[in-house]
Amino acid sequence: MSKVRCAHCGRRFAARYRTAAYRKRMRNADGYAKSESNEWFTPPEILTRVRAVLGTIDLDPASCAAAQERVRAGRYFSREDDGLTKPWAGRVWINPPFQRYLIDAFVNKLVREVESGRVTRAILLTHLSSSARWFHNALAASAAHCLIRGRINCIHASGGSSFAPWPSILMYFGKNVAVFQREFGGLGAIYRNEGADA
Ligand SMILES: C[S@@+](CC[C@H](N)C(=O)[O-])C[C@H]1O[C@@H](n2cnc3c(N)ncnc32)[C@H](O)[C@@H]1O
Repeated sequence: MSKVRCAHCGRRFAARYRTAAYRKRMRNADGYAKSESNEWFTPPEILTRVRAVLGTIDLDPASCAAAQERVRAGRYFSREDDGLTKPWAGRVWINPPFQRYLIDAFVNKLVREVESGRVTRAILLTHLSSSARWFHNALAASAAHCLIRGRINCIHASGGSSFAPWPSILMYFGKNVAVFQREFGGLGAIYRNEGADA
């Protein structure tokens, strides 16, 4: 039986799986993963829900001017500002840059800022990375999370869009889990963190 190798996981599959839909998805995922760019932005259907939960977005600490056309935060930090070196406060939306060392640093800073009380509510969008320490730090500090069904269709700085090559999770830090559930329940399964002190 003829076999093909998956460009992402390296496993070999029977060639019959190499359908047109599969090839399209892999092309999209390749563009995303190989772009070596962090400039993939959150789609508006997620940002609308984020605003409904947070009320308003006071701060987007990992961002750029182009992303702000959709995020419309009261304040944002860009790569030039370096959001990791600034204090964060209020209601925060964060979709951290994808490089592993940056995700790690941004997510751990979010947890510290939430625990300090300076960040009063937050929503984090990130990879479903259950083997990473930063992932479990955030999960333990969050009040609830949404395991997103399917793949997010992210928007590129060029204006195009592409499906994320990895599964995604939204974590909520705050007291209003019912509103988080109402807004994001349609996008995936919601789990409450019974142990959280949020
Ligand atoms: C995945 S994008 C998310 C953009 C936007 N927050 C959104 O939700 O659409 C991550 C953004 O973080 C920016 N970034 C990278 N390093 C940064 C840093 N040290 N401080 C602040 N922003 C940074 C990138 O330029 C990029 O715009």
